Amino acid sequence: MKKRIVFATGNAGKVKEIRMILADLGMEVVSMKEAGIQIDIVEDGKTYEENAMIKARAVAQYTDDIVMADDSGLEVDAMNKEPGIFSARFMGEDTSYRIKNGEIIRRLEGVADEDRTARFVCAIAAVLPDKRELTTRATIEGRIGYEEKGENGFGYDPIFYVPEFGKTTAELSEEEKNQVSHRGKALELMKKELMKYEDTYR
Ligand code: IMP
Repeated sequence: MKKRIVFATGNAGKVKEIRMILADLGMEVVSMKEAGIQIDIVEDGKTYEENAMIKARAVAQYTDDIVMADDSGLEVDAMNKEPGIFSARFMGEDTSYRIKNGEIIRRLEGVADEDRTARFVCAIAAVLPDKRELTTRATIEGRIGYEEKGENGFGYDPIFYVPEFGKTTAELSEEEKNQVSHRGKALELMKKELMKYEDTYR
């Protein structure tokens, strides 16, 4: 029987993005909620990979489908790579991104262009039906801007300027962002890994 992919996230935006990227695997992608799995997961890992795997393993206890999870964050070099794995929790989980983004811009006041380097990092973890575990990681390099720009995307996108595009990731279309983003590239790598293990889920 053909297996589904259960994505361990409550974020509908992520599931939509992931469905687009994984479309050519020809498998149904459902969220935890759609799979009827409602659990609270404590992300207490020290790396993106550990956190992604904690989420994937937790959900894999409840299903024989392929389970995937991601963990991502923004590393600002002039802030010692903060907020990093704490990106969602930076200044408090419920603080608006207008405030979080404003604070990062403020902390970089007086920092020259070439020292405003930053990257988004994403790790994807998968647990296969036979409980084999896989992880992939990818990044996108950019610079912290001087003001928020763009309405697309979410989180830190309005202050993440990508020199090749001359735009922030909030000014890219969904398709453009998926092609170059940390999450898009990490998922592409995971797709290649999964194709190697096709025997375990087809
Ligand atoms: P996660 O959902 O636990 O992986 O948290 C990742 C956090 O990193 C998000 O809540 C955002 O603050 C930030 N982040 C990760 N990827 C992106 C992105 O593509 N754009 C903007 N912010 C991002």
